Amino acid sequence: MNSNSRVKTPQQAVDKTMPFHKYKPFEPIALKDRTWPDQVISQAPRWCSVDLRDGNQALIEPMSPAQKQQMYDLLVALGFKEIEVGFPAASQADFDFVRNIIEGGLIPAGLTIQVLCQARKELITRTCEAVQGAGDVVFHLYNSTSTLQRKVVFGMSREEIIKLATDATALVKEYTQPLVDAGTNVILEYSPESYTATEMDFAVEICAAVMEVWQPTAENKIILNLPSTVEMATPNVYADQIEYFIRHLPERHTAVISLHTHNDRGTGVAASELGLMAGAERIEGTLFGNGERTGNCDLITMAMNLFSQGIDPELYLSDMPGIVAVSESCTKIPIHVRQPYAGELVFTAFSGSHQDAIRKGMSHVESGSDGAWEVPYLPIDPADVGGSYRETVRVNSQSGKGGVAFILEHYFGVQLPREILLELSPIIQAVSEVDGGELKPETIWNTFVNEFVEVKGPYQLLDYQIQTVDMEREKCTARLAVSESEVDISGEGSGPIDAFVAALIETLNEPLNVVDYQEYALNEGSEAQAISILSISDDLQRKYYGVGISKNTTTAAFKSIIAAINRKWR
Ligand code: KIV
Ligand code: ZN
Repeated sequence: MNSNSRVKTPQQAVDKTMPFHKYKPFEPIALKDRTWPDQVISQAPRWCSVDLRDGNQALIEPMSPAQKQQMYDLLVALGFKEIEVGFPAASQADFDFVRNIIEGGLIPAGLTIQVLCQARKELITRTCEAVQGAGDVVFHLYNSTSTLQRKVVFGMSREEIIKLATDATALVKEYTQPLVDAGTNVILEYSPESYTATEMDFAVEICAAVMEVWQPTAENKIILNLPSTVEMATPNVYADQIEYFIRHLPERHTAVISLHTHNDRGTGVAASELGLMAGAERIEGTLFGNGERTGNCDLITMAMNLFSQGIDPELYLSDMPGIVAVSESCTKIPIHVRQPYAGELVFTAFSGSHQDAIRKGMSHVESGSDGAWEVPYLPIDPADVGGSYRETVRVNSQSGKGGVAFILEHYFGVQLPREILLELSPIIQAVSEVDGGELKPETIWNTFVNEFVEVKGPYQLLDYQIQTVDMEREKCTARLAVSESEVDISGEGSGPIDAFVAALIETLNEPLNVVDYQEYALNEGSEAQAISILSISDDLQRKYYGVGISKNTTTAAFKSIIAAINRKWR
């Protein structure tokens, strides 16, 4: 290695450290008697999709009007009852989209649209213009309350920030009154943005102050949305913060507690789940977690997590490939192959032992378990989200006989005896090692055919005839190619196979004992083919398997015998 090399020696690598001293640990709150760890989620929360706002704001190329419409239609079809449709005061495109769905009558009954707005007078006015004529509207007002932002961004005291929020709330109340008078149902949502980076007592204080102005009731509740705008701690800390908030909020019964998590530490879904356990009722997030930086809470994962626990997710996610297609086309962000419940590989096993267990689990479910899904390594039935059981097993060099058996059975209808699988599996493995990648079902089939069906060897069946000798016996005359020449053979037996074997024994002059014979139909209809699988054993009781495939059952049987003899002679 030359002295300028940038490759570190092991010692250099050990001595080097990351600049972790730059960062301060997040200080958890002191909530000693927390109760949330004992709670179990037993029903779906109120879902609110923020794909068209938080998700859209984070895209390299924001959605076009047509893409927004496509995403909106999908969200409606998935069963969302609350959709944040934009930030109309901040973007003309969002304003136009909101007008379009209101004027075009595109908001189905039961759906509430939500619009985001900062705590500023002119933006509140504009937002009210945007939602004129809508039936049900969540007016989502926010301002940052975090300690850091108060210090470095706004330079405002706690009192000043509370005044900003309450003044804005009063304006929303005043400016939405004409909408209410015209028949719109207006719900206020207030978000103390960066809630998790705010002192908890202050977060409660500002929300209580907003409630004082808005005057929610048990019938007409306010939504208090508690964002983890940047995820800064483990999800249990978020749950503590939610439990703290709920315990300390005055007039709790007049508020819906909503969560809005981001995913900077990769635990956005976990934080929302633990937050639900801590007493929240509503979840904001996006499909596949698209959103600022590392994204928002992934609603698909969260809903499917409920589904996998036997809870109605109250979203209809059975066409996952369709959901992926719309999401990819609108966001231009590909869904990762390991995206929970949706990625190409999430129901796939390559490892041999996993494949074996899946195969056995599938048979257990098919052969009449109590209807419950009990398949190792598969948390849900892929068919429930538009997947196919076939994709659960794919074969590469890590796979074993279980995987090969699964592919042959589920793609080609062939069930092989264990002995053949034991012989075939290392051959398949060798092919995949040479290939270096995944073996497609066709390659596995061709390898099987070359090895057991169209076996190269000294013998080939050219032609045969069967004649009935009497009620008990049949005669077989056949023509074989043997090496370079052709040979006619004939023999008698209790049936065609017996007669053919007798003819072969006479000609080949060696023992030929057929064992393990089985034959079945490969498929149905006029193109039906039979497969014959058997082995012959020699003097030393060694077995040689051969397989024959033909539309004619006798031909299939004869071919399998010839294949077995050729494999013996190889
Ligand atoms: O992440 C966040 O805090 C937000 C607010 C506007 C709710 O998106
Ligand atoms: Zn957000």
